[in-house]
Amino acid sequence: MAILLLLLKLFLLLNKLHKRITIFKKGVASEERISKILDAEIVIIEKENAKSISGFNSQIEFKNVSFAYRKGDSGHVLKNINLVIPKGKTIALVGQSGSGKTTLADMVPRFYDVDEGELLIDSVNLKDLKIKELRGLIGMVSQESILFNDTVFNNIAFGINSASEEDVIKAAKIANAHDFIVALPEGYHTNIGDRGGKLSGGQRQRLSIARAVLKNPPI
Ligand SMILES: Nc1ncnc2c1ncn2[C@@H]1O[C@H](COP(=O)(O)OP(=O)(O)O)[C@@H](O)[C@H]1O
Ligand SMILES: [Mg+2]
Repeated sequence: MAILLLLLKLFLLLNKLHKRITIFKKGVASEERISKILDAEIVIIEKENAKSISGFNSQIEFKNVSFAYRKGDSGHVLKNINLVIPKGKTIALVGQSGSGKTTLADMVPRFYDVDEGELLIDSVNLKDLKIKELRGLIGMVSQESILFNDTVFNNIAFGINSASEEDVIKAAKIANAHDFIVALPEGYHTNIGDRGGKLSGGQRQRLSIARAVLKNPPI
């Protein structure tokens, strides 16, 4: 009997030890993954004496812009793009799925940098600007909008410190979202669920548009 108890104790101990080792291994693996990310080449770099940008006045210009996701690849996603977008103009990029529309748009907030050519905002190369200030000028609504498990109001007012109820409703009206919002069980105070899961795709997009309208950025 005593031996049985001893064996049982030993077994439990070994079991515990095994669990510890597994946790330790997992820890090492995560550490490896984290350092891989930390050591990865930072592609988007701000210059040491980056210039300030406080507004947007006249135009965005793509000058002979080429870009490839896989460097050294012959398959460019963008090849010698020349395009002038004047302030206040509405531009539609039309093309097949995978032709590079999103890539082109992603160059403006510098999610990616051009490989060749220049991308200029009011004749200044984006690479010379302070990244945070540049991005602060831009409003973006993408296919996959980023919504939070919070109320409609807080999702629209996200990023604005002191948005009034009046401002939020005004933005929602411009985004054609007001009508469906007031029809929700608690109106602007309805929780929209994780990633806006309680809304339809179109409704989620309208909320993102309302957020962009409220921020009222020049680009
Ligand atoms: N992050 C990425 N890494 C590698 N290739 C990508 C990436 N994003 C897009 N691509 C490729 O770049 C091309 C253009 O994609 P994209 O700009 O998303 O096209 P569009 O928006 O016109 O549908 C496609 O061939 C796509 O597979
Ligand atoms: Mg796209």
